[in-house]
Amino acid sequence: MNNRTFAMIKPDAVRNGYMGKILDRIIEADFKILGAKLIRMTKAQAEGFYAIHRERPFFQELTTFMSSGKAMVLALEKENAVSAWRDTIGATNPAEAVDGTIRKDFATSLGENAVHGADSDENAAIEIGFFFTNSELISNE
Ligand code: CMP
Repeated sequence: MNNRTFAMIKPDAVRNGYMGKILDRIIEADFKILGAKLIRMTKAQAEGFYAIHRERPFFQELTTFMSSGKAMVLALEKENAVSAWRDTIGATNPAEAVDGTIRKDFATSLGENAVHGADSDENAAIEIGFFFTNSELISNE
């Protein structure tokens, strides 16, 4: 079990003014924030980050959207962090997200779904490494 996960507040949520509210949810759910950065991905960076989806029909739409504005990337720590964060954000499609989840409350569509969460320990480590160096991850308060 890995205690770290990777999270992103996507451009739709930043544009809609939900960055602070989503950070509140992260803190209320008892995640420790090891690292946080405001970024704006280039199209090439978005294509690299989502390379696993490059054969999918929505790849162009996804990477254009993800490079369309500011996003916040976060490295989070909590017991069983990957599944804890996925529970906090809810289903990928906000129409299927249960009450009280971030996507239920702040997402608008499957494509613009407010937040990202790593889907496995292995991908969490890869995704954290995509945006953070080890020295940018602060585990002591
Ligand atoms: P995320 O958890 O960031 O991982 C991949 C993303 O692709 C996913 O959230 C969705 O936002 C997006 N996605 C998945 N399916 C579709 C789809 N059918 N059309 C557009 N975007 C999609």
